[in-house]
Amino acid sequence: MSKTGFLWQTLFAGIVLVAYVDFSGAKEASGEACVTPEVVADYVHAIIEADRTLYASLVVERMQHHGKDLVSEDWALKDKLPLPAQMLQFAGLEVERSGIGLKYRLASLWPVDKNNGPATDIERIGLQAVSDDPSTVHTSTIRGNFKAIFADKAVSEACVTCHNKHPLSPRKNYKLNDVMGGIIIQFPLK
Ligand code: HEC
Repeated sequence: MSKTGFLWQTLFAGIVLVAYVDFSGAKEASGEACVTPEVVADYVHAIIEADRTLYASLVVERMQHHGKDLVSEDWALKDKLPLPAQMLQFAGLEVERSGIGLKYRLASLWPVDKNNGPATDIERIGLQAVSDDPSTVHTSTIRGNFKAIFADKAVSEACVTCHNKHPLSPRKNYKLNDVMGGIIIQFPLK
């Protein structure tokens, strides 16, 4: 290769490199998404599940020796401990109140508490989809709002027994590992 040819080639490679560095820098500066909404929902879901599991194992179960009724859905009236499902709902309301746009809640097609039913057709479809196949996460984006629905399974006999015998439960035939509902997580994409 001639000396001029080599110079031109080096100059060209330099321009390409600078353009690439600038472009990737601009991408970061403009805040272009590096993590997909699906992954964000996975992160949030992992935190919710960890908190719920630990509240159930480190607080509720360890308090059982103080009496079976210590954990009660009427905790507010009786000065008792809330159920894990109630803790999750309260935490969701607290996050919603913070005004950052993130919302989450526990819902079901067969809710003990009528307020926990699907709020929209999309939620109904999503809860049905995760009930049919708990390994899927149902996602949707409507008017810039991303929503992910994760299956909520009967991981212990306690889930099954309490829901099956609850007077307000519209479904009484749950078995271990059945999908009882879903965790709905939503946040704005902008
Ligand atoms: C001691 C009774 C009890 C146990 C144990 C229990 N739940 Fe619940 N669950 C309830 C009550 C009561 C509610 C309604 C709480 C509210 O007012 O939001 C509820 C709410 C729910 C909901 C929201 C829909 C609805 O039914 O209102 C889901 C889903 C759910 N529970 C799943 C589970 C799973 C999964 C487990 C086990 C890991 C479990 N529950 C254990 C009593 C129980």
